[in-house]
Amino acid sequence: MNPIFCAFDTPDPVAARGLAMRLAGHIGGIKLGLEFFMAAGPMGVREVAGDSGLPLFLDVKLHDIPNTVAGAVRSILPLEPKLLTIHAGGGPAMMEAAAKAAAEAGAQRPKLIGVTVLTSLDDTDLAVMGVNRPSTDQAIALAKLTKDCGLDGAVCSPLEVTALRDACGPDFTLVVPGIRPAGGDAGDQKRIMTPGQALNAGADVLVIGRPITGAADPAAAAKAINQEIGAR
Ligand code: C5P
Repeated sequence: MNPIFCAFDTPDPVAARGLAMRLAGHIGGIKLGLEFFMAAGPMGVREVAGDSGLPLFLDVKLHDIPNTVAGAVRSILPLEPKLLTIHAGGGPAMMEAAAKAAAEAGAQRPKLIGVTVLTSLDDTDLAVMGVNRPSTDQAIALAKLTKDCGLDGAVCSPLEVTALRDACGPDFTLVVPGIRPAGGDAGDQKRIMTPGQALNAGADVLVIGRPITGAADPAAAAKAINQEIGAR
């Protein structure tokens, strides 16, 4: 399976649909996040993912009381995402409720992916929020918790892949943004690896946005990345 999920960070369903059509066959799936979902809603998601036939990663980072999150998961199931993000900070009961709701879809159920510590937070931010251990330790602890609560994996930076793989085992799905092709522009990403490096470290899903979506020829950019990582 192609591990590349391309991040479409746009509110515009027409642009997203055009991009999906151009990239179909060259990527493993598309990631639609809150910017898109708030603007275009489930209808927009259907237009983009359904028409292109590309697997969907719905990155809406659910976080609320258990009953509400379970309801949100049920509402999302008809969109048939392959991956769906849930904030680990919502706690064990919330994650267990999400896993139970997702299981109602049977074999079609999405993989639930925990968001541990947002990479926009550093140790100082965590301390202000009452978390007094380093961000990496917090990410590892929350990743273990997501696994114990029945989630399928976690989002992590390329530099955390080895630690989370060691902590959570071989079957835990590691979803990794912060990927830049060799020689590419890092942009605002600081903790980066190339696609090949991240896969070698143990990443399962590579989230790649602007190196593909911002290229003059997005399909050619995706093909070049496929060549770099070979047929995996
Ligand atoms: O364009 P770029 O490749 O940097 O896009 C990365 C995608 O992954 C964006 O949608 C971004 O919001 C998301 N992401 C991230 N870092 C995280 C979690 C998500 O870059 N820690």
